[in-house]
Order: sequence, then structure tokens, then C-alpha cells
Amino acid sequence: MLQAGGRRPRGRCHIITFGCQMNEYDSLTMASLLEESYVLTETPEDADLIIVNTCSIREKAEHKLYSLVGRFKRLKENRQGLKIAVCGCVAQQEGDRLFKRMPHIDLVFGPQGLYRLPEMLEQLEADGRPVLCAELREDFSIPNIPRGRAGLDPVRAYVTIMQGCDNFCTYCIVPYVRGREVSRPAEHIVEEIGQLVDMGIKDVTLLGQNVNSYGRKGGGGMGFADLLRLIDRQFPGIRLRFTTSHPRDLSRDVMECFDSLDTLCEHLHLPVQAGSDRILKRMNRHYSRQEYLEKVRLLREIRPDMVLTTDLIVGFPGESSEDFRQTLTLVDRVRFAQAFAFKYSPRPGTAAARFKDVVPEDEKGRRLSALIALQERIGLECYRELEGTIQEVLIERVHPSDPGMLQGRTRGNHVVNLEGHEGLVGTYQDVEIFQACNHSLKGRLQAGDRDDNERGMQKESPFLRGSDHEDHTDARTCDNP
Ligand code: SAH
Ligand code: SF4
Ligand code: F3S
Repeated sequence: MLQAGGRRPRGRCHIITFGCQMNEYDSLTMASLLEESYVLTETPEDADLIIVNTCSIREKAEHKLYSLVGRFKRLKENRQGLKIAVCGCVAQQEGDRLFKRMPHIDLVFGPQGLYRLPEMLEQLEADGRPVLCAELREDFSIPNIPRGRAGLDPVRAYVTIMQGCDNFCTYCIVPYVRGREVSRPAEHIVEEIGQLVDMGIKDVTLLGQNVNSYGRKGGGGMGFADLLRLIDRQFPGIRLRFTTSHPRDLSRDVMECFDSLDTLCEHLHLPVQAGSDRILKRMNRHYSRQEYLEKVRLLREIRPDMVLTTDLIVGFPGESSEDFRQTLTLVDRVRFAQAFAFKYSPRPGTAAARFKDVVPEDEKGRRLSALIALQERIGLECYRELEGTIQEVLIERVHPSDPGMLQGRTRGNHVVNLEGHEGLVGTYQDVEIFQACNHSLKGRLQAGDRDDNERGMQKESPFLRGSDHEDHTDARTCDNP
């Protein structure tokens, strides 16, 4: 439970998270901030405080919030004292319009406001009036909040290294809702990874909208490759990953870290978005198809076993069938292990929302289906190449829908399902891959447990239960938000 210093928890809190890993991380920060006064509950029905952490990346994501929070109205009528908070990117975008649209909301705050959650709750308790905190400060710096255990996954964790984005890709809402880019001091990042490692975490993903520009604003003058080297030196037993990388800013120095740093796993998510130069230009991405392909070539020269994944948008304004064909040929050429494909969705205030030459919805749908069909074939082929190989798998959890099975991940970020006992959660195992499925692999433990001391690891994680947070690795090539 979350009691600290033997104190009785004050209330019960249920947190619902939509959107990207940034939001998942922010939800855990909120859980850490509330750890002394709230326990986390599994369902909204038995909570005194419901927090909905929202995403605004596509219209569909935004709609999810309205239908969900609409349903909480009834809950609030039946449960005296229930407080409802809406935070994250839609909260930032809509501000006090949310109170007008849904008067049963008590608290609205954006991604920069979440650090003030305890004082906002006190204010709400004191006078009962709705509280709003949705200003975006230019001089914002990321507060250093000690990591709590509440809601933490047993094996994997995210660590924010920067917030915001200055890129202004013409389709994207993020710069408007997350504000200007700011990096976090390296000593805070190292301190937090230390706390997580002490709690048994073994797989750390560094987070930022554009991690390659780490250190450009704030952070104490260290660049991203220096940060990777520092973490590698300090925590030799972990697996290190990062997301998201903007292709323009991916330097040779960072690429070489995939070869020189043992902790850095050979998987890179490198969103390309489109395959045609004309569309990339209209998207304001600042790289050409050729430049992207050249970075891919170099990455594979440095690390031939590099696993690449990507994001793609279909039906961006002005995308002709020839432009779209170039997306298909790029996907065919790069051979991504996985791709997340989305129909373009106009977002309020972004430059592309004003472009007139829109692609009709049914055409977007057709293009999405064609892209998914191609990627499914390529993805399966990439997975099949692993059949018969032995992979180092970090065992993450008991399989959520089959208690007799375990689930883990290769260094290349492929999910592996295998038979085994719960005690192996948190350990590295050598696993023989015997079957490729669409988005996962089936494997079997090699005879004899691996000697984990080799990596300076404990045999067992102190936690054996999975968290209730959404697992992105099962995500399919899709149009889900
Ligand atoms: N910072 C990351 C991406 C953040 S958003 C990056 O720069 O790559 C995650 C993905 O959502 C994007 O890569 C893009 O493919 C998709 N996306 C963003 N805005 C979108 C929009 N308006 N319509 C459809 N997809 C969008
Ligand atoms: Fe959005 Fe582009 Fe920034 Fe990524 S880099 S968050 S796509 S504006
Ligand atoms: Fe992430 Fe969605 Fe906000 S993708 S940054 S939660 S708009």
C-alpha cells in the first residue's frame, strides 16, 4: 500500500491515462506526488478522486475523453465528495472550456501544472470551487520529484529527459500543448534512474518529444550522446532505450552509441511520417527521403542487427496517390519491424489545419488499409528471421491473459511469450525463438537459468505483479490514438 511513515492514507485515487509514454510517465509522477495521501485503486467506482490524463494528438483521442468523463457524471451524483480532475494535453488545449462543457469536472490542469497537484487539491478542499491551472510558461523547468513505487511496472520504467517541442511539424499539436522544449539536468536524470534501479527496474526508456536535441535548452550543457554515455557508465546492468528521435537531429555520435554502449539496446523508433519529399516539406520535417534512407543505411552499417520501427501518417493535405506510393516504397525499402500508421487528423491551431487540399476520409481509409497490409507482411517476415535464434530476453511479467505463461522482451524490443514460473520475472534468460506471430514471438527457455550475476543483477525483482498501465508493445499497426 502507499502508506508512508505509518500514516493512514487519506483517500483513494484512480488514474486513467490516454496518449503517449510522456503521459504514462506524468501519471506516475502524479501517483508519486499523491503517494502519502492517496492509494491507487483499480476502478473508478471506488475512488474519491478520478484523474483523467488526456491526449489531443488526433481528434479520436480527444473524443475518448468526452465520452469517458461524461459517464462519470452519474458516478459523481451517487458518490458524495468524489472529485474529478482532467489533465494533460486536452486540458491544456481546452482550459476552462472544459468546465463549461462538463460542469461536473473539479480540476483542470495542463502538463506543466501537474506538479502543483497537491496544492490544487488543498485549494479545492478549502473552498470547493473548480481549480484551473493551464498556463504554459516559457521559463518552465522540470521539477525533480522522487520516484514512488505507486503504479510502477516491476521491470520497465520511463524517465523524462526533456519536455515540450520547438519543431512545429505542421500537423502536430504537441508544441501548443506541451510548450517550449526544455531539458532536464543530467544529475536529476541519473538520480532518478538510481532510484528506479534500487526498486528493481532493469529496462529504462529515456523520454522526450525530440531526445536528440537534449541539452540544447537547459540540461547543463551536456549533449544527448554524452548523456547516454554517462548513464551507461553509471548503470552497467540495465537495458537502456530512448524515444522519440527526430531523424533530422540523429547524429553520427548518437548512432555510434548503439555499437559502443552495452546497455543501449539495438532498437530505434525513428518516425519518418511520409515517403515523399513534397509531403515531408509540407509537414515541416526538415529532412528528405534520401537523407532518411541514408541515416538508416548508416545505422545498419554501425549495427547490422538494428531493429527499426516508425510512425506514418496517411492522407496529409495534398498527398497525391504518387506521394502515397512513395510512402509504400519507403516502407518496403527500410523494412521496419513495426510501424504505427495513422490517418491524418486536423488539429486546432496547427498550420496544416488551414491547408485546403484535404484528402477525403474514404481515401485516407483505403491508403491506411494498403499501408497496414504491406507492413503486416514485412513485419511478419522480420519476425520470422528470428526463428531458430537464441535471444537474451528480459522477463517482464506473467502473461496477462495466460497465467501459465511469461512475457518478456528481446533487446530489439520484440515481445516474447514463453512458458516459465513467476519467479523468473525481472531476470535475463536465454530463449530459443521457435515461432513468429504477427506482433510477438514464441520462445522456450534454454536449459538451465542464466547466471544473472554476470550482469550484476538480482535474480528476482522485488515486485511480481504487473501494473495496470497500457502496454504499448502489443499495439498493432493501426489508427488507434
Ligand atoms: N515527437 C514524436 C511524435 C509524437 S506524436 C516525433 O516527433 O516523432 C506520435 C505520432 O502521432 C507522430 O509520430 C505522428 O505519426 C502522429 N501524429 C501526430 N499528429 C498527428 C495528426 N495530426 N494526425 C495524425 N497523426 C498524427
Ligand atoms: Fe510533434 Fe514534430 Fe514535435 Fe514530434 S517533433 S512532437 S511530431 S512537432
Ligand atoms: Fe502525448 Fe498525446 Fe500529448 S501523444 S504529448 S499525450 S497530445
